[in-house]
Amino acid sequence: MQISDSSTRILAGLLEARTGQQLTMSRRWRIETALSSLLRERAIGTIDELITILVMGKEPSLSQMVVEALLNNETYFFRDRAPFDLLQRHALPELAVRRAKSKRIRIWSAGCSTGQEVYSLAMLFAEDPDKWRGWTIDILGTDVSTSCVERARAGAYSQFEVQRGLGINQMIKWFEECADGWRAVEPLRKPVRFQVHNILEQPPHPGDFDIVLCRNVLLYLSPEKKALAFERLAAGMAEDGWLMLGAGETVIGQTSKLGADIGARGLYRLTGDGSRIEKRQADRRTASGA
Ligand SMILES: C[S@@+](CC[C@H](N)C(=O)[O-])C[C@H]1O[C@@H](n2cnc3c(N)ncnc32)[C@H](O)[C@@H]1O
Repeated sequence: MQISDSSTRILAGLLEARTGQQLTMSRRWRIETALSSLLRERAIGTIDELITILVMGKEPSLSQMVVEALLNNETYFFRDRAPFDLLQRHALPELAVRRAKSKRIRIWSAGCSTGQEVYSLAMLFAEDPDKWRGWTIDILGTDVSTSCVERARAGAYSQFEVQRGLGINQMIKWFEECADGWRAVEPLRKPVRFQVHNILEQPPHPGDFDIVLCRNVLLYLSPEKKALAFERLAAGMAEDGWLMLGAGETVIGQTSKLGADIGARGLYRLTGDGSRIEKRQADRRTASGA
């Protein structure tokens, strides 16, 4: 099916206006595949016909469905693995000391898709119950897509999805069979919550997140939108918190609010007034006598 240039432009404009995501030329070939089941469900013959309905504005919910269909929701449990090892090795032990008094840790997964990232984080805590007994762990997953958030909240995954990233032992320990496949068990569901949220808006309540993950979300944002997203993410972080991005993503050259944590490659910290990062570097040099 040939999609006209004007239809492509309208769809790209709608997606960018709602989410900041750009439909670059190289991603335009996906439009047809992405919208095919929506067209079938709504008995709409062609994409140009869909555009006519959208432009007439008679079905506001349809435009949200189109946006959600165009978003890339690819995710799986413990995606890329190394970032989770980094959190376990570096951030969580440090937080265990720094938050020993409040015994509270807040994590925000921004752009959590269908929730696998959030349940992976919950597993890090659930697998070490002695260490975290008596702690309040609050893991918030947010996504601009309502359908993703609903799926994440349900915590149910198909056989294929549950096997992506999980070993058989983890799968049996943390998921139980249900009508839809495999559902996360109560200890995994207890610390997590989900909400619809756009990263280009003010950070979600309660803020002051100790760890913010925004992985594989910012890739197709324009430089201006990316700078805004970093501002929002930074505003949601605790003063001594961390930001984690996806593989190949960086804050360097994109924002002055965040800088690399030299002690943990892959984690970013707020630069702050006196530049926390430089101060940390200085502290280390002093400690090592350099
Ligand atoms: C490729 S998935 C990544 C999921 C997960 N973070 C991971 O790395 O596996 C990107 C997610 O970001 C969401 N997203 C895109 N733009 C967004 C925005 N402006 N605000 C919030 N979420 C957004 C998409 O709906 C999608 O679920």
